Amino acid sequence: MKIAPSILSADFTDLKSAIALCQSAQTDYLHIDVMDGHFVPNLTIGPVVVKSIRCKTDLFLDVHLMVTNPEMLIEPFVNAGADSITFHIEAAENPKHLIEVIRSFNKQVGISIKPGTPLNMLESYLQYIDLILVMSVEPGFGGQGYIPESTDRIIEIDKILKTMGLRKQIIIEVDGGIKLSNAKIVKDAGADILVAGSAIFNSENPHQTIEQFKNI
Ligand code: DX5
Ligand code: ZN
Repeated sequence: MKIAPSILSADFTDLKSAIALCQSAQTDYLHIDVMDGHFVPNLTIGPVVVKSIRCKTDLFLDVHLMVTNPEMLIEPFVNAGADSITFHIEAAENPKHLIEVIRSFNKQVGISIKPGTPLNMLESYLQYIDLILVMSVEPGFGGQGYIPESTDRIIEIDKILKTMGLRKQIIIEVDGGIKLSNAKIVKDAGADILVAGSAIFNSENPHQTIEQFKNI
């Protein structure tokens, strides 16, 4: 299984160790949660931090924008070193335009969807994107419980992509409440990559936990 550790649950006074861990465990992505205190009730990481992370690693930086005006932050995060930019469909006034802006910087494009948002909101954009980030908790905080209904949503997205002939070109990434105990169910539903924050960084042996996720 592919794994994207979310550094939201890492020790922010020691991000260097968190990055070194992901580097040595050869994770597929490093997931970076950007929150603006408006789209979600929490404030986290800005471009300056991403720039510092970029200086320390070649890992793929998967930037998840939980912000109200994503158009304002694409360029700053691209300049900071993001490899992919994922915005929320609920926050986008003009999703097609955002996709074009991200593409103009030659970066991968993701769209994220909250647990309560109808999946048909994604349909007109699927042919233009690389990744769907399915939220399996309400965005805003690490350490929440996986919402069980998410499994059916992943199955449904997988089905929609297959029907549209897009399944091979789009990655389904699932974010929120992912643990070793539910990872297999989420994988079997259709997830290609799992985001895990607290399950990795709060575990006794984060390196071993990453290996266990990879072997799911
Ligand atoms: C939640 C974030 C997640 C979060 C996941 O809004 O998007 O990426 O860090 O944390 P866990 O794995 O602890 O649910
Ligand atoms: Zn996230």
